Parts: sequence; C-alpha cells; structure tokens
Amino acid sequence: MIKKPTVQTILDAKAAGNAKPAYFSPAGPLIGRTRVPGDKSISHRALILSSLAIGKSEISGLLEGEDVLATAAALRAMGAKIEQKDNLWTVHGVGVGGLMQPETAIDLGNSGTSVRLLMGLVASHDISVTFLGDASLSKRPMGRVIDPLTAMGADFTARITADDQACLPLTVRGLCPAVPLEYRLPVASAQVKSAILLAGLNTPGITRVIEPVPTRDHSETMLKGFGADISVEIDGQDNRIISLVGEAELEPQNITVPGDPSSAAFPVVAALLVPGSDIVVENIGINDTRAGLFTVLQEMGGDIRFENRRTVGGEPVADIHVKHSKLKGIDVPAGIAPSMIDEFPILFVAAALAEGQTITSGLSELRVKESDRLSQMAEGLIMLGADVSENADGLTINGSGGKPLRAQTDGAMIKTALDHRIAMSFAIAGLVSETGVSVDDMSPTETSFPGFSDMLAALQSSTR
Ligand code: S3P
Repeated sequence: MIKKPTVQTILDAKAAGNAKPAYFSPAGPLIGRTRVPGDKSISHRALILSSLAIGKSEISGLLEGEDVLATAAALRAMGAKIEQKDNLWTVHGVGVGGLMQPETAIDLGNSGTSVRLLMGLVASHDISVTFLGDASLSKRPMGRVIDPLTAMGADFTARITADDQACLPLTVRGLCPAVPLEYRLPVASAQVKSAILLAGLNTPGITRVIEPVPTRDHSETMLKGFGADISVEIDGQDNRIISLVGEAELEPQNITVPGDPSSAAFPVVAALLVPGSDIVVENIGINDTRAGLFTVLQEMGGDIRFENRRTVGGEPVADIHVKHSKLKGIDVPAGIAPSMIDEFPILFVAAALAEGQTITSGLSELRVKESDRLSQMAEGLIMLGADVSENADGLTINGSGGKPLRAQTDGAMIKTALDHRIAMSFAIAGLVSETGVSVDDMSPTETSFPGFSDMLAALQSSTR
C-alpha cells in the first residue's frame, strides 16, 4: 500500500531530521479482524500506580509506544524497578511517598500525559525534578497543572513564553507533606484531574477535585483497584466530586490493559469510508468517557456494533464490528467533546466524505494538543479539496457525499507537525482519495500506535 517516497520527499525529510515520509494510496475494501495496541491513558496509569504500590505488580497489554516508554523511564529514574519480558511488564513499586531524587533531567519526548501526571506525582515528594520535551511538548501549556499544584505547596520554575504561558523546560520542587486541596477544574482535563489526585496520594487529609464536565475516569477506577480510599459523588448541579484520602497505601495489582479506542478510531473510520469494507477491531475499551466518537459515527449513519461485551480490569471492553456505510453530516454537540477529545482529527476526515454539513464547536482545547489540531486538519483537508472552514473553536465541513478527496497540487505533502493523530488521520484520508496522500512524517505514530501502517496493510491484503 505504501509507495516508495520520491527523491524530493526523502530530501525534505532529511532536512526535517528523522522524519519518515509516506504515501497512502487509494485502497480496496478493508476486510478481517484486527487488534490495536493497549490504551495509552490506562498504560501510563498502570505504570505509575504500580510504581507506588509496595511489591510486585504485573501488567499485560501495555502500550509499548514512545509515550508510555517515556513514563516507564521516568519512573525508573525515580527508583521504581520496571522490567519487561515478552509482553509482560513487571513493576516493583517504591510505595506512596517513596520516589527518589533522579540524577538527571527527565526527557518526556512528545508525551503531555507523562509530564502532567508526573508533575503531580513529584509535587508531594521531597524531590526536585526537571522535565524536558520535544518541540511539540515544549509549546504546550503547563500552567493548568502548575496552578493547583502550587496551591498544594509545590514550587515551579518554568520557561515563560512571549504570550505568557508556562512551558517546558520546567523544574518542580515538591513539598512533603503537601497541603490537601479542593479544586474545581477550570478546563475539562483528565490530565489535570489526575495530576492533583496523584499529588493527593502522598498528602495528609482529603484532596478533592470537582469536575463540572466529566473527563476520562481511568485514574479513579484504577486508584480504587489499587486499594485507595477514593469516592465519586454527583452533586445537584451534575458536578462530579472526586475525594481521595491521602497518605494512601496501594496494594500491587495484576492489570490487563484493553485496546485503545483512540487507536481503534482509525481502522473504524477507514472501514466506514472505504466501500465494501467489513472489519472487527477486537478487544477495545468502550468506557463511556472515551467512546464519544463511536456514538457520533453511529448518528452519522455508521454501521458500528459492539460484540462480545465484557469487563477487563474494571473497564468495559468489546469487539467493534464495522461495515462500510454512507455517512451524513451532523451538528456534533459540544458536550460530547471530552469523551472524544483525541478523535476529532479522524472525525473531520469522516465528515469530509459524508453527505452534507458537519458542524463542530467547543473545541478550543484542540489548539493545545500535540499540534493545533483545528488548523492542521483544516489546512490538510483543504489541500485535499475538502470544503472546510475554520472557526475559533471548531471546524465546519461540507462533505463530498462519498466523492474521493483529491490533492489540489502535484506533490502536495501533508504536514503532521509532530502529531501522531494528524499523521494517522491523513493516512486514512489517503485510502479514500483519488490521488493518494503524501504525509511528511509518520514517525510520530510511534508514540501511540507502533505498527499502524502494518495493521492497515494487513486489513487490505485479504482483498488483493
Ligand atoms: C489524557 C487526557 C486528555 C487526552 C490525552 C490523554 C489522559 O488530555 O487528550 O491524550 O490520559 O489523561 P487532557 O487532559 O488535556 O484533555
């Protein structure tokens, strides 16, 4: 499926460093059963909580992508013993409060979840840690985590940008004992919520996070599984109030990580869009706080069924059966955004091929992900002839009604801006294009979806 890059693409890639350009050509039907790597959010949390339990935890199904490996390396640098044999990960934790001073600065590459969760962890330890990241991570705002953790007593020195944002590199000096906090989240962010709860684990008293809009709840579920005293209540205004009793003791666990719905999103949309497709993506987490994309695609007319529903490690899991469908545009309610926050890039590709108009709003958070996903997606889709207008907090897309996308200029190359989900979204766009799509750099897919291109190729091979 992937044609050899041209000399020019190789030269451009060399100029950009270690970029891996690729070309995705129009595809025949996707057929068969597939799997995707483990859930990224759950994998980070499994490593972190295992590192805080005393004794041996075992993790299977862990995502072995760069982001999660960065978390593992950071935890090792702070004293946890983490080993991998075949696909099984073993963690000997240091106990809550037991993290040690790392010898050097910790580089977290592209991973926002790693840096924000680990900032929380360090905030209530008597250690000082400097965090670094790549060009994408170094642009992302850290003030949202610094503010509540400062209120708990941690001290931060961060680089301040021209527009007054606190960014990496930054150094956090933790306080032990820290001060418990009651904090109402000003942005719907599971990373901020989790950073505060992780800081609260080693803090005397009750740490409380109030969520006006629910975000992914893997931290709460897994903390409970490790034996923390954590409760969730819903108040009269529909706020989720999460209360954690500090100075917790965590019991080691055996964890099975389900497949990542955010990764499954790519083959699911590919199968919906490519005529004749019929696939099953096995073993995918379908937690309500993550499954918004599937609901939206079903409303657009997508034939998506959840088969073999079960519970794995406290998380709902199913095999997702998808058949090619004629999609129609819809007005996506802003309230569903947190449950599909990482899936908008691929939804925009689906919308570009649907019949009629898709309107999205309330998505200003997409501008501070691994890239500005609203402008990267708008720019790339317009390069492919789609009718897209970019608003402050969303895109409006007039779909082609199934007519394949078409690169508007010869040699047009999509910019992925160090963003794995932009890279994978345009790879899928290539499958439903007339001209094929060239992507300047597929290397970011290693952060969350090692084997992405092979998975796509395997789904197509049975029809060749
Ligand atoms: C994540 C939360 C989300 C999501 C990210 C993973 C997590 O970020 O975009 O990919 O694992 O907690 P925000 O907390 O910034 O919404």
